[in-house]
Amino acid sequence: MKAVILVGGEGTRLRPLTHGMPKSMVPVLNRPFLEHTLAHLRQHGVDEVILAVGYLPQVIQAHFGAGEGTGVRLRYALEPRPLGTAGAVKRAAAHLDRTFAVLNGDIFSDLDLGAMLSFHQSRQAQATIALTRVEDPSAFGVVETGPGGRVQRFIEKPHREEATTNWINAGVYILEPEALAQAPPDTHYMFERGLFPLLLEQGEPVYGYPFSGYWVDMGTPQKYLQLNCDLLQGQAQSFLVPWEGNEVRLGKGVVVPPGAELRGPCLIGDGCKLERGVRIWGPAVLGPGCHLGPEAMVEATVLWEGVTAGRGASLTRCVVGSHTQVQAQARLHDCALAGKPAAGGRSVTAAATPP
Ligand code: GDD
Ligand code: MG
Repeated sequence: MKAVILVGGEGTRLRPLTHGMPKSMVPVLNRPFLEHTLAHLRQHGVDEVILAVGYLPQVIQAHFGAGEGTGVRLRYALEPRPLGTAGAVKRAAAHLDRTFAVLNGDIFSDLDLGAMLSFHQSRQAQATIALTRVEDPSAFGVVETGPGGRVQRFIEKPHREEATTNWINAGVYILEPEALAQAPPDTHYMFERGLFPLLLEQGEPVYGYPFSGYWVDMGTPQKYLQLNCDLLQGQAQSFLVPWEGNEVRLGKGVVVPPGAELRGPCLIGDGCKLERGVRIWGPAVLGPGCHLGPEAMVEATVLWEGVTAGRGASLTRCVVGSHTQVQAQARLHDCALAGKPAAGGRSVTAAATPP
């Protein structure tokens, strides 16, 4: 089966982390998020993927090329301007001549796509929407279903009191080419506010496929941090970076100095430099080339590449963007921060935003 992944959004909710980086390239266990998605799709029988790119496409293309090393063949559908979720897929319509899958590019799940395809075929559906249950559905597309899972109503981002169910659109669809044919070409058009409501209005067979496994939209710093921690703590599994137990996994050239305290699960990237008295309490991820000064402390935190933390700095439940310098003795918790080294080599603590 072919799949289209929507990776054209700007990832505004992940700022300041994503300045200059598409959301699909943010590191999860030190590998670009999209690599995890491709590994998941390959495991479920997808052999060709079309990436619907728009924002910073060159960053994605330079990394993935034609898919060498990913196990899937990659093509790109580039939008001259954002065309919306359905508009973006419509651009790839020439390559979609049989049943295909569409995925939001910020979803991590253990959804069994093969089982969903069987469900779709058994219902002879035009469109099948994967459904997951959440506490507060108001930030999502709420999907009301009836007998046999037939969708009755799709309401994108309803007010809390408008939401009649906790089952929401999980951002994974299986579609027939005839369904996509209804989307107008070269027009900004959304599945959520356009095509799904249209198909329902026309009485087309649209079904919801509920699943109860792991699911997260990692599009906010808090959810992004949660995903990394869940993968290290066994709540979620990646085919790309398998993880078991409370391992302390050290990259190349990492030396643990005497007196340092490393509690798993933690993943320390290549070339990280740890000074005496450092404490790393998992779940924690350090990107390659990080430098923790003497007595620095990191707990339940993800540091991207090249982060420096000065003597005695402490970071708890934080996400820190690439090459950020955290001042000595800084006490940071529950924040996402990113910053560039200041001129003259002085240390800066970048503006922090709560996740
Ligand atoms: N190519 C392209 N072009 N991609 C786009 C565009 C576009 O114009 N607009 C959004 N995307 C991509 C984003 O990059 C992201 O991967 C995906 O489409 C979904 O966009 P989000 O901005 O993350 O949407 P959301 O999280 O608020 O809501 C969507 O996902 C929820 C599940 O997490 C909706 O599909 C909801 O109905 C759903 O419940
Ligand atoms: Mg999202």
